[in-house]
Amino acid sequence: MPLIVWNNSLSVGIPSMDTQHQKLINIINRLHDAMSTGKGKDIIAPVLTELHDYTVTHFTAEEKLMEQCKYEGLAMHKQQHSQFVNHIKKYQSDLEKGSLSVTLSVSNFLKDWLVNHIQGTDKKYESAMKSAGIK
Ligand code: FEO
Repeated sequence: MPLIVWNNSLSVGIPSMDTQHQKLINIINRLHDAMSTGKGKDIIAPVLTELHDYTVTHFTAEEKLMEQCKYEGLAMHKQQHSQFVNHIKKYQSDLEKGSLSVTLSVSNFLKDWLVNHIQGTDKKYESAMKSAGIK
């Protein structure tokens, strides 16, 4: 059973963003699998790097669309993005130093953050994007 199962409650109403969120969920699920089955740093580090890189790709794309439709909540939204990227960077650095306790609290944190962010923050841009013709 994956950690996060996509369902309609996670849809932000903008298909391109839903697709990117599904990719992020897939990476977090794989990271969770690696952690929960006791895989070592050699397996976990590349997945964490993939998560970092795709998160940055997604946030950059999403911020560009919010700019395009002159979304008023952009500044606050960007702050949340930046904090999440910093969390991932900290995990990467802790893993490198051997001080990351590879427990389910890491994947649970990522899951909770992403689900709350999509449902509580991302969903708010739907009408602004739709009004601007963004899909
Ligand atoms: Fe889809 Fe604001 O992250």
